[in-house]
Amino acid sequence: MSESETHTPEFESVLYEVRDGVAVITVNRPKKLNALNAPTISELMEAFFIARDDDAVGAVVLTGAGEKAFVAGADIGELAGQTPIDGRRVARRGQMVFELIENLGKATVAAINGYALGGGLELAMAATMRVAAKGARVGLPESTLGLIPGYGGTQRLPRLVGRGRALQMILTGEPIDADEAYRIGLVNEVFAPAELLDGAIALAKKTTRVGPLAVRYGIEAVSRGSETSLEEGLRIEADLFAILCASEDMREGTTAFLEKRKAEFKGK
Ligand code: COA
Repeated sequence: MSESETHTPEFESVLYEVRDGVAVITVNRPKKLNALNAPTISELMEAFFIARDDDAVGAVVLTGAGEKAFVAGADIGELAGQTPIDGRRVARRGQMVFELIENLGKATVAAINGYALGGGLELAMAATMRVAAKGARVGLPESTLGLIPGYGGTQRLPRLVGRGRALQMILTGEPIDADEAYRIGLVNEVFAPAELLDGAIALAKKTTRVGPLAVRYGIEAVSRGSETSLEEGLRIEADLFAILCASEDMREGTTAFLEKRKAEFKGK
């Protein structure tokens, strides 16, 4: 067991463990269907910093405790008493955590084990990939509360599934099930509930067998490139490609191929 596997930080509402080089981060408020209150958001941020900075962690799986929910949204109890000033601060803080997840430099897989609503779906959309349990329901019901999504939902959903379907989900507030989410490209795979976590870990693990810098720059190229023109995006791709040409990993990967052996990447 490596040092990182013995290091399990203690949080109130988040569980953190490392399984075979994959950090499994679990939102753990099952009695409130893992709704995201302010302390949980802070703990999630802390957990993702730990995963980012631990060299023994190659990828991350994010899930929810219990059988019913991944995350049933932002905590409506907290939302109800919010002033506009609070609302802006809370939304910006949540957005910051989600940006951390999106640009972690390691692949993150959201294992959607039940309801992923509002902030829950927005959290899952910040991950690199999503897998869902058959029967899970995902949606952005904020409009039923007289709100719009505030953790990036209006921005990330149309980028993943296109404007029409995104606006349908945002303006009706109606959730869709895992099979429909798969059909429109919102989730990458659907598993039987008992197989979801292993399936998510296996998918995350696949990204740890390739060059770690290739994963980091692959995420960056797609993330930054999708926010700009094709011409600018191609320049970003060429610049990151050029940096990788100077890496030990690139030399190791190409040499190993030519020597017909398995590459041993160091992330350098
Ligand atoms: N914030 C705070 N508490 C929440 C919550 C949320 N987003 N979602 C669920 N909970 C709490 C419920 O209030 C309830 O608490 P209680 O037992 O103290 O009364 C507990 O979690 C269980 O939820 P409950 O509604 O009884 O479960 P259900 O199976 O009947 O319904 C849902 C499940 C997901 C359909 C329903 O909880 C729901 O609609 N939640 C809100 C979803 C939402 O609008 N999210 C977006 C927020 S921006």
